[in-house]
Amino acid sequence: MEVRKNGTSTKALYGLAIALDRLAEKLRSNKLLVESIQAYENLLSYGKNIPEMLYKKVADRCINRMRFKGENARAITIHKALIEKFPTDVNFRNNLTITYLIIDKLVSARRNVLDTLKKWPNNGLAKTLYGFILKTSDNNIEKSVKYLKEGIESREPGVLDGRFFFHLGDALLRLGRSSEAMEVYETGVKEGFFLSKYQRSLYNVDRLTGRPWWTKEQTTYKKFFDLLEENWMNIRKEGLSLLNSKGLFKDEAENLIDVGDWKQFELFSRGRKVPKNCKQAPYTCSLVEFFTPASHCRRGQIKFSVMHPDTHVWPHCGPTNCRLRAHLGLKIPPKTFIRVAESTRTWTEGKIIIFDDSFEHEVWHNGTETRLILIVDVWHPELTANEKQTLPAI
Ligand code: LMR
Ligand code: MN
Repeated sequence: MEVRKNGTSTKALYGLAIALDRLAEKLRSNKLLVESIQAYENLLSYGKNIPEMLYKKVADRCINRMRFKGENARAITIHKALIEKFPTDVNFRNNLTITYLIIDKLVSARRNVLDTLKKWPNNGLAKTLYGFILKTSDNNIEKSVKYLKEGIESREPGVLDGRFFFHLGDALLRLGRSSEAMEVYETGVKEGFFLSKYQRSLYNVDRLTGRPWWTKEQTTYKKFFDLLEENWMNIRKEGLSLLNSKGLFKDEAENLIDVGDWKQFELFSRGRKVPKNCKQAPYTCSLVEFFTPASHCRRGQIKFSVMHPDTHVWPHCGPTNCRLRAHLGLKIPPKTFIRVAESTRTWTEGKIIIFDDSFEHEVWHNGTETRLILIVDVWHPELTANEKQTLPAI
């Protein structure tokens, strides 16, 4: 009797959850999505009384919907229940690692992936995930190469992901193994992760024209860039005086420096003004604010960038091909260079250079005095008005 009662409830609850889920998708309703997740959770709480196949299917969909809603932390209980119920299935362990990574619980991610590798030392996805953690949070480049390489070469489900190719190539490059890095990048292009071996941004609108260096005319924003050039002396004066206040400029935070000292002072970020900083740089902010392809560029920044002598920035790619990056030279000592893809240039005081920073670029300061530039990101001119409004910020 009890069993039948449970059986009926299970079926009914499953029907309800599926119906809510489908309707939520059809109507794009957040309220129904919340209810469907709740219904899946209720169903899973029946535990032993659900056939195994159904349990897996429901748990998988429930985690998927939680991820979609950005409620990754809530999925952890389900991951753990799956691991307990199906202790011989390595996929459930790997999925838990992925959720930990998404919510930035690196200690738990590392612990879980090491646990997984103890039991499944040859699992390709576990190796790849461990390599990814070694590279992105432990800065253990040498060891990361071993794990990322072996993991990716397994070609097991889940390992063919642009981010893994991106970091394996970067790690190889930092170890001076550039021809191996290029091979990884070329495979990444063949697999469809990168636009080209040099253009390795992962958040792209595919049809956009991609070229390393742009002229002012090509951007269609010549008038704005001319205005910046005409007023460069005042921008420089403001930037230089900010340098005198200790602590305003912040260290570059993406682990891109090989050696040296490189700091930035942000005025606009992800399409929004940074009011506290704009108060300190009113002239420059008012000059750029009215020009919305720059100030409203939700995939870019506007910032002063200071680089001190004896600095080298590793070759790297920006995250997206949706912006172009202009540099206005403010204080440019000799022996400072920037390479984008295969051509290297330098800055000139009072002049703008423009490049697409989704292409690989590398910077050297071999001179003896401070270098100061203003960086202004602008929307790629071929984006539609709708795209500029709806593309998620980066
Ligand atoms: C970059 O955009 O990565 C660098 O070129 C910035 C800088 O200050 O040179
Ligand atoms: Mn860069």
